Amino acid sequence: MGFYHSMHDPAIEGILVSTEVIADTVSELGRRITADYAGKNLALVTVLRGGVIFLADLCREIDLPLSLDFMAISSYSPGAGAVRITKDLDDSITGRDVLVVEDIIDTGLTLNYLLSVLRQRDPASLAVCTLFDKDVRRLVDLPIEYSGIRIPDRFVIGYGLDLMGRYRNLPFLATLREEVME
Ligand code: IMP
Repeated sequence: MGFYHSMHDPAIEGILVSTEVIADTVSELGRRITADYAGKNLALVTVLRGGVIFLADLCREIDLPLSLDFMAISSYSPGAGAVRITKDLDDSITGRDVLVVEDIIDTGLTLNYLLSVLRQRDPASLAVCTLFDKDVRRLVDLPIEYSGIRIPDRFVIGYGLDLMGRYRNLPFLATLREEVME
């Protein structure tokens, strides 16, 4: 019987952001959010599925009362920006201080659409926290209050991010070998 170890997975080129750097960044973001949202009515909203790994770590670094809620979306056509909500939030966000928690922002089109949907529900405030920011690829100008780590224009996997459903459980952010991308 063979043993799998992600460090020897032939598809993985190398580690782009280590477990330690991710942990430090998540705890710093948590500290800032804790300071900024004291006395507010914080609701963390996350998009399934990639965001849940970051959310699980981030929410435990926020020392405030808060609630968690989830949405799921699927895009009509890749890159078009318009998305279909396949699972809506369970709770109302009207009057709540909503913080959208994202694993990565690439073009920003998905998030742009999501924010317009959430804004229509009259939250008291609406802000964004992303762990990874591929800002060179941005197509729409979005206000991102909390941005963790800027990354280059590479396809990355791990810490929630997948390649065809796999690799979300890697405890670090990795790049793929070019051969795998083709
Ligand atoms: P955007 O609308 O272009 O900002 O796309 C955001 C979504 O694309 C993210 O929530 C991810 O699901 C996915 N995505 C973007 N870049 C990557 C990547 O490098 N690896 C895996 N998924 C990615």
